[in-house]
Amino acid sequence: METEKESTLRGAHVLITGASRGLGRSIAMRLGREGAKLSLMARNLVELEELKAALGPDCRVYGADITDNESVAKALDYFRSGHGPVDVLINNAGSGSYTPFGELSADEIEQTFAVNVTAVARLIHVLLPDLKQSADARILTVASDLARRPLAKMAAYSSAKHAASGLSHSLARELKEDGIRVMLLNPGVIDTWFGGSPKGQTPPPYGLNADHVADVVWYMLTRPAYLLMDEVSLHPMGQSDF
Ligand SMILES: NC(=O)c1ccc[n+]([C@@H]2O[C@H](COP(=O)([O-])OP(=O)(O)OC[C@H]3O[C@@H](n4cnc5c(N)ncnc54)[C@H](OP(=O)(O)O)[C@@H]3O)[C@@H](O)[C@H]2O)c1
Repeated sequence: METEKESTLRGAHVLITGASRGLGRSIAMRLGREGAKLSLMARNLVELEELKAALGPDCRVYGADITDNESVAKALDYFRSGHGPVDVLINNAGSGSYTPFGELSADEIEQTFAVNVTAVARLIHVLLPDLKQSADARILTVASDLARRPLAKMAAYSSAKHAASGLSHSLARELKEDGIRVMLLNPGVIDTWFGGSPKGQTPPPYGLNADHVADVVWYMLTRPAYLLMDEVSLHPMGQSDF
């Protein structure tokens, strides 16, 4: 698809993981305004239902743990039955904690990789047939500035996000033959519930407002179809370790 016209999200089936709160919720609100058909996944169905009430009938929600393959398969059946094949996948769900490596349990290390990399790779893999038949397919993965640099006490998370970055960049090269644009977003600190700390602890300029990051996601997704923003990094000016 070679066009210099801005890509549209109107009528596109957009699947967003981790949409119950934080950045995923802001992305859902932003793309809902563009007329996208939204499919939203996270574990907390109560929060998803609240969001659906705000977004209206073109929004479908399903409570699923993205590391649970059976639940994800059921969610995809439900989403496709209403919205058809997926055109745009936003891998936003993620988790991690600021903890010395030796104090993480073996399960916590595995879970960090499962959520931030394995589930992302699996979801892209199972959605490839949908994406290959879309006229304007896009995959955007939210990694982190820690996908580009190391940080003590974030070893599991940082290495998982490095892997997500490698996945995204490799697929960007592989899937361009199919007209699928694969993008990576590496934000610094965002003021959300990430890591268990309540939203409001890192307001601008120390953390990014999630709605402002969602504007960047919208911008990346709506560039003309020949233009690939394969990686974007952004930071709040007050981030102390940047
Ligand atoms: N906040 C930051 O400073 C920061 C910086 C750089 C990158 N990021 C990345 O930004 C993305 C969004 O995080 P956030 O800041 O918005 O954090 P958040 O407020 O904690 O939200 C995380 C979202 O991911 C979902 N999630 C986590 N584990 C899941 C699982 N096993 N299955 C399904 N959904 C799951 C959560 O939903 P449920 O709990 O309802 O399942 C929630 O909707 C993540 O990929 C994160 O790594 C965050």
